[in-house]
Amino acid sequence: MVGILQVDIFKNKTALITGAASGIGRGLALHAAKLQMNVVLMDLNEDALYETHGLMHDCPSMVIKCDVSNLEEFTQAKEKIKGEFGIVHYLFNNAGIFLEGRAWKADQKNWKRIIDVNLMSIIYGLNLFVDEMIASQERCHIINTSSMAGIIVGPALAPYTTTKHAVVGLTRTLYEDLADNDNVGASVLCPGLVQTNIIERDHLGLDLDESSIDQHESAKNNAQWLADGVKEGMTPEDLATIVFQKIEEDKFWILTHPEFIEVYESYSNEISANKN
Ligand SMILES: NC(=O)c1ccc[n+]([C@@H]2O[C@H](COP(=O)([O-])OP(=O)(O)OC[C@H]3O[C@@H](n4cnc5c(N)ncnc54)[C@H](O)[C@@H]3O)[C@@H](O)[C@H]2O)c1
Repeated sequence: MVGILQVDIFKNKTALITGAASGIGRGLALHAAKLQMNVVLMDLNEDALYETHGLMHDCPSMVIKCDVSNLEEFTQAKEKIKGEFGIVHYLFNNAGIFLEGRAWKADQKNWKRIIDVNLMSIIYGLNLFVDEMIASQERCHIINTSSMAGIIVGPALAPYTTTKHAVVGLTRTLYEDLADNDNVGASVLCPGLVQTNIIERDHLGLDLDESSIDQHESAKNNAQWLADGVKEGMTPEDLATIVFQKIEEDKFWILTHPEFIEVYESYSNEISANKN
């Protein structure tokens, strides 16, 4: 009997995961290791990167301490990866930080930091890796982590919402710009609540002084909502299973939390009805 040949698009291919020391990035890394990929773990937090590494199924891997908002560091890291594995086939631009607050109350340093980490790092990732993906003619894919905050809007979340909307716009144009290309795909990951350490941000370059963060009740409530919500959120393992499935299906949208779609619909209806 002739069977249908299933091509394994992940095995022995190289995945670079930023923000791999914790949460969603760790979940993606553990999944990639199970799929017998070459896994490159990248993060600011070296100790926690080694924890992720210790949890992984045995596979070829690299641990690289790198602040992805720093182009020079990211470029050096790329050279290390190239020396070990050659091209990156699956680029997970996932590192990110959370900052609540009204637009005019967030401190300038914090605005700059969140734009650098949540947006510029992704742009650097594209600058560094996409041309080589195209030239390789091998199957490659870019997965940029946004959030439901990338497609819906609430009050007192200006810095986070601004960067996450930008990631959706950036990734959608990337998808359009790669449309003629047979081998490189692009997806935007927009999770709802996931059990991670996103609210523990004291080591990530933000100035957490009361004077630098909006102290309005709505901003504080949002931060508290997130802190409470993530405890009950989806596990990073379940999220990773969905993400790899969607990559295999070559889907652009990776919307992991259908409970938010209704909110999104009311927002897009507002646009189509020309309301407000
Ligand atoms: N947890 C959620 O509910 C949720 C929901 C939607 C989107 N997200 C997004 O998921 C992504 C991952 O966040 P998470 O929830 O797993 O949080 P997390 O804090 O558990 O993990 C984020 C990781 O990114 C790393 N990181 C931060 N800045 C970095 C930098 N400049 N360079 C390198 N590494 C850096 C941190 O050290 C940390 O290990 C983020 O982009 C976040 O915005 C999270």
